[in-house]
Amino acid sequence: SSADLAAIKSSIKTIPDYPKKGIKFRDVTSLVEDATAFSLSVKALAQPYKNSGITKVVGAEARGFIFGAAVANLLGAGFVLARKPNKLPRETISQSYQLEYGTDQLQIHKDALSANDNVLLIDDLIATGGTIEAAVKMVRQLGATVHSAAFVINLPDLGGVDKLRQLNVTPFCLVEFE
Ligand code: PRP
Ligand code: HPA
Repeated sequence: SSADLAAIKSSIKTIPDYPKKGIKFRDVTSLVEDATAFSLSVKALAQPYKNSGITKVVGAEARGFIFGAAVANLLGAGFVLARKPNKLPRETISQSYQLEYGTDQLQIHKDALSANDNVLLIDDLIATGGTIEAAVKMVRQLGATVHSAAFVINLPDLGGVDKLRQLNVTPFCLVEFE
């Protein structure tokens, strides 16, 4: 409901000038510290996908793990970790993505997804969309279907949702901030 979304939004603290002067950092740690807001967020993220045949949820390290694992559990789906390099023990595939300065990489286990999987991507926040684009590419590389991508927070000025649409992925976001 709109009251739930308002409660979720008001639980997110804004930190001025972090990590750099001029940035308003939307801090999801204050949301997950609030039991009510955390529970409402996980339910709202899962709700549209209840009868969608989602077999796996993919979440990006680190904050994507918090929401992704909880949503997977509500949907009766498995959870696949998209991790920073050299953290996963079995055979992996990798995808690089752009950061503000330089590049980073995410990896997933090669045997975690197959052509039979219908995947929901989950992250706490979408900014430029670079992180989620890397996840989409890896899911598709393993032959699985990307159903949708859902986020607690959208920062629409940074263009991530537009980037997702260009990749033919339908975005769903609970709250927006400038
Ligand atoms: C943050 C956030 C998203 C990503 C969004 O993670 O949790 O995963 O950035 O930005 P983008 O849309 O521009 O890619 P970060 O890379 O800071 O990692 P962390 O969760 O380990 O702090
Ligand atoms: N909050 C958290 N993560 C972020 C933000 C933000 O405002 N901008 C880019 N990544």
